[in-house]
Amino acid sequence: MAYYSRLVGSGSYLPEKVLTNDQLAELVDTSDEWITERTGIKQRHIAAEGQMTSDLAREAALKAMDYAGVKASDIDLIVVGTTTPDDTFPATAVKLQAQLGMTRGAAFDLQAVCSGFVYSLSVVDAMIKAGQAKTALVIGAETMSRIVDWEDRGTCVLFGDGAGAVVLRAENGISENEPRWNQRRGILSTHIHSDGTLRDILYCDGGPSSTGDAGVIKMEGKDVFKHAVTNLSSIVGEALSANGLEAKDIDWLVPHQANKRIIDGTRKKLGMDESKIVLTVDKHANTSAASIPLALDTAVRDGRIQEGDLILMEAMGGGLTWGAALARW
Ligand code: ACO
Repeated sequence: MAYYSRLVGSGSYLPEKVLTNDQLAELVDTSDEWITERTGIKQRHIAAEGQMTSDLAREAALKAMDYAGVKASDIDLIVVGTTTPDDTFPATAVKLQAQLGMTRGAAFDLQAVCSGFVYSLSVVDAMIKAGQAKTALVIGAETMSRIVDWEDRGTCVLFGDGAGAVVLRAENGISENEPRWNQRRGILSTHIHSDGTLRDILYCDGGPSSTGDAGVIKMEGKDVFKHAVTNLSSIVGEALSANGLEAKDIDWLVPHQANKRIIDGTRKKLGMDESKIVLTVDKHANTSAASIPLALDTAVRDGRIQEGDLILMEAMGGGLTWGAALARW
């Protein structure tokens, strides 16, 4: 029996409080013009005091479950991609499991920073194919505002808080050995990579075993930018060729929403029209693992993404980590 993963619902959540570029310019020496020109970001959402990553994850998860028409008792796996868990342990996913009233199956967090959602999709897809899960919640959720140095204008302008979720369901049939398998609805393939030697260009200067606190984001922006353009171009090519597909077959590019200029670089490499890109970075800045499902859910709910559309998701983040997932909605 060959299983594959079908995407059956999405949901997203942004905290109420909005911090615009102009408001940020009152806190650090920056301007709306500088931020917009360099990144495409106009505003970010900030979690309220006491509002944790699990709270954002739960809101997004409930919307995705509602969309998919699944109950907590149907779910047997929760994976939360996050770099800002509520606590050192237990995992945010386990907390969410309890909050949803799900009493069976497994729940765990996955740490791949901005690539966390693509990594989580990859792991869950493999588990579904192996028959280890039937209905899974895959979530990207972050409170990046808690690990930002609000006095460092080089990084604090870039990040925001939010969560996005999808429900994946195991389907039977249309395996990779059958003709036209790449026309099936669901995940076609996932591709993940990392290079730990590049740790120093993007990292958090703290942790439970090093400093005992969470630390703040440190980044060499120009180096990160260069690696992002190179790695994302190569991962996109890898995903397409693994499926016998070409860039012209993609209906929607749903990229990690870090920076409009990085997204434009990938788009140009693919020769895609701007109208085929789902761009939401202006609304919520870089929400790390949450950004792809936030963008995906936006385009699903506003009707751009239709049944059967081919979606290419790609991301790069601290580690460095990078990855892509090709799927039909
Ligand atoms: N406002 C105003 N000026 C600023 C700001 C700011 N917020 N931040 C930096 N500057 C100044 C710098 O001090 C510098 O001034 P100087 O010339 O007097 O020294 C000048 O602007 C240029 O700084 P650079 O760092 O060279 O600016 P750059 O053009 O590289 O843009 C940016 C910086 C936007 C961070 C860019 O490098 C970038 O987008 N990198 C990718 C980073 C990223 O997306 N990281 C997210 C995590 S990884 C991921 O998700 C892919």
